[in-house]
Amino acid sequence: MPVAFITGASSGFGREIARALAKKDYKVVALARRSERLEDLRKEFGERIYPICVDARNKESVFSAIDSLPQEFSDISILVNNAGLALEQVEFDKLEIDDIDTMVDTNIKGFLYVARALIPLLRRQKDAYIFNIGSVAGRNPYFGGNVYCGTKAFVGQFSLALRNDLRGSNIKVTNIAPGLCKTEFSEVRFKGDKKKADSLYENTKFISAKDLAEVLLMLVALPSHINVNEIELMPVTQTWSGFHIERFG
Ligand SMILES: NC(=O)c1ccc[n+]([C@@H]2O[C@H](COP(=O)([O-])OP(=O)(O)OC[C@H]3O[C@@H](n4cnc5c(N)ncnc54)[C@H](OP(=O)(O)O)[C@@H]3O)[C@@H](O)[C@H]2O)c1
Repeated sequence: MPVAFITGASSGFGREIARALAKKDYKVVALARRSERLEDLRKEFGERIYPICVDARNKESVFSAIDSLPQEFSDISILVNNAGLALEQVEFDKLEIDDIDTMVDTNIKGFLYVARALIPLLRRQKDAYIFNIGSVAGRNPYFGGNVYCGTKAFVGQFSLALRNDLRGSNIKVTNIAPGLCKTEFSEVRFKGDKKKADSLYENTKFISAKDLAEVLLMLVALPSHINVNEIELMPVTQTWSGFHIERFG
């Protein structure tokens, strides 16, 4: 049975990707901080799930958890590097330093620790696949997006550069860049202000975590010689609002 390693498996995209792959007969290593959520996955899929309750920002914990994977979960052929977050949506100079640190430490540094620890395992496989979860925010700056947009631009460029480093390895790399999706993302961003978070999704259609998992399964099913470098997906209801021009008088 093939093994997938998914970060941020306790909620949103990560959880639905874990469920979708477990239903497709993958064993899943599920990493996140909230153990009770990972336990729910284990209750649903039993021995097929190996939970790792770790903060991706903690370098030592990430490397030691991956180093000590049980034999039956170490033949990993899919990495979904998904754990991440946005905090607040305000001008950069109003952002708390702690929030800047949390975004950079999770979306860039934690993301890199996981990739660095796992690529040696992926290289042992005949074919393997890395999905990095970026965002449309990596290409489309919006008001108050500053650090989050920057971290997701990093994910996009790193994904492309990584393909060069993986030459000859048969490891595919895809940056999946979603637009408006309903998960816990906005509740986290607005620090538990559910009303504010919910208002983003009012009277419109958005992508669900299940939709995203379906797209990932489609990519997994492509012939082994095709690499999709980037895929950007938005709900049909979402488009761009153009440049802002400051007017005087
Ligand atoms: N929803 C959207 O509109 C949207 C759009 C574009 C891109 N994205 C990206 O999609 C990815 C998944 O987000 P989501 O929408 O599924 O949001 P979500 O429902 O809030 O899920 C985020 C996941 O990341 C995990 N996580 C956060 N910090 C972590 C840390 N330090 N260590 C380990 N795990 C951590 C969380 O688990 P714990 O809290 O249990 O640790 C949770 O499982 C993120 O990278 C996000 O930037 C989301």
